[in-house]
Amino acid sequence: MEWVRSIRVMAKGSVLVVGGGGREHALCMALASSEQVNSVHCAPGNAGTLEVATNHAVSASDVEGLVALAQHLQATLVVVGPEAPLCDFLADQLAAVGIPCFGPVQALAILEGSKLHAKEVMSIAGVPTAEYQVLTSESDIESALDRFEGQPWVVKRDVLAGGKGVVVTADRSEAKAFIEASIATDGKVLLEAFLEGEEASMLVVMDGSGFVCLPPSQDHKRAYDGDIGPNTGGMGAYCPAPVATPEVLSRSVRDIVEPMHAYLSSQPTPYRGVLYVGLMITSEGLPSVVEFNVRFGDPECQITLPLIATDLHELLFAAATDRLSEVNVEFHRQHALTVVLAAEGYPASPVKGRRINGLQAPSETAWINHAGTGHNDAGDVVSTGGRVLACTATGDTLDEAAQRAYDLLAKIDLEGSHYRTDIGHRAL
Ligand code: AMP
Ligand code: GLY
Repeated sequence: MEWVRSIRVMAKGSVLVVGGGGREHALCMALASSEQVNSVHCAPGNAGTLEVATNHAVSASDVEGLVALAQHLQATLVVVGPEAPLCDFLADQLAAVGIPCFGPVQALAILEGSKLHAKEVMSIAGVPTAEYQVLTSESDIESALDRFEGQPWVVKRDVLAGGKGVVVTADRSEAKAFIEASIATDGKVLLEAFLEGEEASMLVVMDGSGFVCLPPSQDHKRAYDGDIGPNTGGMGAYCPAPVATPEVLSRSVRDIVEPMHAYLSSQPTPYRGVLYVGLMITSEGLPSVVEFNVRFGDPECQITLPLIATDLHELLFAAATDRLSEVNVEFHRQHALTVVLAAEGYPASPVKGRRINGLQAPSETAWINHAGTGHNDAGDVVSTGGRVLACTATGDTLDEAAQRAYDLLAKIDLEGSHYRTDIGHRAL
């Protein structure tokens, strides 16, 4: 690994962040403030990343274009936001040209790309998760639905489906229809036991040398207050989440993170990036895995990064080069909360292209993470996606962080937009 050593002695890094959402704006902001970073680039970015980085018109799904861009920029580190390019060999291709990548190689990224693969790995590693059955034929459906009768049915497609691959329903005919449709398109589908409890997100930075658990957080996936309405990518989040008590955390590390790290670091190329462990925590405090993602969560990233006291470049670069065990990672004893402002019609059919007024400059304790934003020909900031932006704040208490985030949100004006008023309600 001669290139690792040669990069370590370089004065300041040039970092390319891949993606264009709120998560990537948060990554760009933190990297731009690092003493170790000379320049931050983002592909494709948004109107927010443009303020702290140079945007490049290369899509996050254009793996060849991203590798060429990283080479052209002489990037010393590539930080990958979304999972799709990782499942499409981006980290493998960057390794082939000697550029460190924060994000795992394809063989490990399929932990997110294939739910069945994730189940098989958990079985090998002895990690607690819901029982499941793979269905490949119509004739198996009724007996499988009988097997998991009595609780809502949880049906999962075995493909990357951009958050639309899971149906949880107490309606047998709805479960059956989704199973049939999934078998027709994918050839198979998973039916799994419903896990009761409260969810939390645990982000674990890892490489071949070790792992670091970031403070646990909680996302709000349903569109409307009171956790009702359609599933979304996430309408807000807060950190740390008190449901992940010290006992739950130490159990999660012992029963989930340690065995996963042992498995992942025994693979031909170790896992270098962040493993997102979606936890279900029972009322007895027993954690099991609902899902793995191979990237930072969005919006969990926005409220986790501000609580990391250690320089973010130091942390990410160390993980990309298998030196994580040399870094002493410290955290701020604070709280962070973010509220997503969504476009009219989100999540079904978001209205785009509307002007956003009232955007404020960041303060020390509250700022805007842009997500679906861009500029029109007149130079105005306009909405370009479903989740438009998030107002993020920190505070000595969760209450204080919530107050600051909602105060900032109140100043923003986007016709038809909506947001949840109860982010953090489980902890407040
Ligand atoms: P996934 O894409 O696997 O994270 O699933 C999306 C959402 O469905 C999760 O965040 C949970 O809220 C829910 N879910 C998934 N699997 C289960 C399960 N086995 N039991 C209960 N809820 C689940
Ligand atoms: N907020 C959930 C996710 O990023 O998958």
